[in-house]
Amino acid sequence: MSLFSAVRRRLAWKLFLSYLVIISVGVLVLAATSLISAPNVLEYHMAQMAMMGSSPALLADLRSNFVTAINEVMAVAAGAAFIAAVLVSLFTAQRIVEPLRAVIAASRRIATGDYHQRVPLPGDDELGELARSFNQMAGTIEQTEQRRVELIGNVAHELRTPLSSIRSTMEGLIDGVLPAEPATFLDVQREVTRLQRLVQDLEELSRAEAGQIQLDLRPTDIAALLRAVTNRLSAQYEDKGVRLDAAIPATLAPLRVDAARMTQVLINLLGNALQYTPAGGTVRVEAAVAGRELRIDVRDTGVGIAAGQLPHVFERFYRVDRSRSRAGGGSGIGLTISKYLVEAHGGRIQADSPGVGRGSTFTVCIPLT
Ligand SMILES: Nc1ncnc2c1ncn2[C@@H]1O[C@H](COP(=O)(O)OP(=O)(O)O)[C@@H](O)[C@H]1O
Ligand SMILES: [Mg+2]
Repeated sequence: MSLFSAVRRRLAWKLFLSYLVIISVGVLVLAATSLISAPNVLEYHMAQMAMMGSSPALLADLRSNFVTAINEVMAVAAGAAFIAAVLVSLFTAQRIVEPLRAVIAASRRIATGDYHQRVPLPGDDELGELARSFNQMAGTIEQTEQRRVELIGNVAHELRTPLSSIRSTMEGLIDGVLPAEPATFLDVQREVTRLQRLVQDLEELSRAEAGQIQLDLRPTDIAALLRAVTNRLSAQYEDKGVRLDAAIPATLAPLRVDAARMTQVLINLLGNALQYTPAGGTVRVEAAVAGRELRIDVRDTGVGIAAGQLPHVFERFYRVDRSRSRAGGGSGIGLTISKYLVEAHGGRIQADSPGVGRGSTFTVCIPLT
């Protein structure tokens, strides 16, 4: 019973037994066929010799000796085959079992929190494929874990600044260093608003990352939606002295989108364009059908983005210039959420810039329905 369970739990034993079965069948077939047919063949040849005049007693003796010889040869062959089975199964087991053991050991270590574990690639066969996909999975887990740690660090960092600002203002008030007047309270209110916005963004981000954003897709007049957004922001643009141009066709084929979410994306892009464009600059919104999609460009003449930073602007908490961005109240989540929203619509979003100080263009493409 214990031998049976040992065999059941060890691949190497199973391999060995399977070789043993194959060899046993081979030996049995060979023994049976030779023991049945060899005496007949022998008799035929002896009949020819009998014509040359051999005694029947000698012939019977010869026949029994021949059968014994065959049996002995078979026994030696079976022994040799058994040794071959042992050697071949050891070699094969080593080739198959070792990579599997490596995967088992690595997955156990990953389960205990050691995410750097990778296994060697044993070749191009299925075992190699197993090792490759295992390593891929380990890499994804490691990245996710790293992002989780980063996220907590980032959130703590984002909370610290407004909180310490509120605290020092309150201390100033208590100590009588700061006057108890509207300007002081407005400072506190601004920081609280910033915290509230951060918490809202974080909630939105976590919903987006969990894939929980429900889109309310309806046929929408995108031209009207774009005009509504530009109208809504025109006062802020005027305040800062940045021109807002719009090149929006009078009619665009209705598109199935979530109007509130698309508005959110566009307000985000136009808000950024305003934030990162100094007074006297221009922001231009263009919409056009290009091929099988609707393309919306938000082009500004602002601070621009260095080529090395472009791939990162959609990462959460990424800010090209931390101090400048914080003054504008940004936490670096806006573009991350926009990207999720656009992709939830089956579209894509992209940032381009010829370089620092030379403006940027953000492009949203939504497939036509
Ligand atoms: N129109 C733009 N011009 C230059 N840089 C931009 C523009 N839009 C975004 N960025 C850069 O991308 C970063 C991420 O943008 P976003 O996710 O909206 O965060 P923030 O809250 O800082 O605005 C910004 O901090 C800024 O450095
Ligand atoms: Mg922003």
